[in-house]
Amino acid sequence: MNQVVWKDSYKIGVDFIDKEHQVLFSRVNKLLKLSQNEEKNEWVCREGVKYIKHHTEEHFEHEEAYMQSVNYSDYEIHKRLHDNFRFVTLPALEEELERTEYSMESIRHFLGVCIGWVVSHTKTEDQAIVGKTSNKWADIPPEEEKAALEATIIQLAKEMFQLDAKMISEQYAGEDFGKMICSRFIYRGGNKAKWEVTLIFEECLLLKVISSILNADYPRVDDMVLNVSRYLSRQFLEKLRESFPAIDLMELEKECLLTREQLLNAFAREQPSCSLLFSTGGSGYFAFCASSADSIRGNLPLRSTIRTPWPLSGNSLRRIRRRGRKEGRRFWWWMTLNLCAAGWFSCWKGNMI
Ligand SMILES: [Fe+2]
Repeated sequence: MNQVVWKDSYKIGVDFIDKEHQVLFSRVNKLLKLSQNEEKNEWVCREGVKYIKHHTEEHFEHEEAYMQSVNYSDYEIHKRLHDNFRFVTLPALEEELERTEYSMESIRHFLGVCIGWVVSHTKTEDQAIVGKTSNKWADIPPEEEKAALEATIIQLAKEMFQLDAKMISEQYAGEDFGKMICSRFIYRGGNKAKWEVTLIFEECLLLKVISSILNADYPRVDDMVLNVSRYLSRQFLEKLRESFPAIDLMELEKECLLTREQLLNAFAREQPSCSLLFSTGGSGYFAFCASSADSIRGNLPLRSTIRTPWPLSGNSLRRIRRRGRKEGRRFWWWMTLNLCAAGWFSCWKGNMI
């Protein structure tokens, strides 16, 4: 039986907030149990949804009062996230439930969104109330952005999913690393600034993360997995944005899933300014690709030399590593030649004077 398991790592250390979170988890579990029953009763599900909604709203009020009582500096941002969930996400889900007369599909959609949102919010935003927060990278020089981004992604993978991630390529170009799930998120800010991010997860990695949340071996990707992963990904990017204040003001405009073909077409059209591939110590691979960021410029060496991905085969990963080494060597040759030329030029200039 799939159940959302309460873990000590979800605790923020404020007793009443931890207790309310646990109640929320148990209510989600009750509905989850009902949703797995083919003979589900519409009235019972309706009451279950109503209770989750009521408890969430009440909990948000308590949490907001607590944040104000301790003068939490990011209160406005946190409240904005709560408001978005209670005034936009929940009403949209409720409308779908009513329209479909509490169909099994709409209940699973409701649960998928709630589980993804509650778990990721508890693991990140609520932890920040008590000071457990990621580094903020403000005014860092462009040449240090990639390293800061890599460090932040590794830290978030650990905090949110208990994954030991390691970057294995900084020039990922869409190579096949198994069955994948690709989500694209488009953010917009003032002055037509646009930040387009694609997150690519190996299916087995996603299933492992979801199985750990639901304390059961989730064997295949279904609508529930997609909805949970959608909200986990969204929260992952929210945290990433918070770590880079320059992009924090952008708002999510659109999100969608990409097929493998659409992903390859996107790579063929335009290489992202930043495209990082990570391994997670045997659990699976994931990639982070961002384009057109005015703030995260992704100053990767020789990124423009790769325009199209290779044909797919089982050796893709070996090729990724090989190419990383090759591009690195090319970069150092290029640097050496430039330095020699610069040295020769200054000698020549000195002689002329
Ligand atoms: Fe919260």
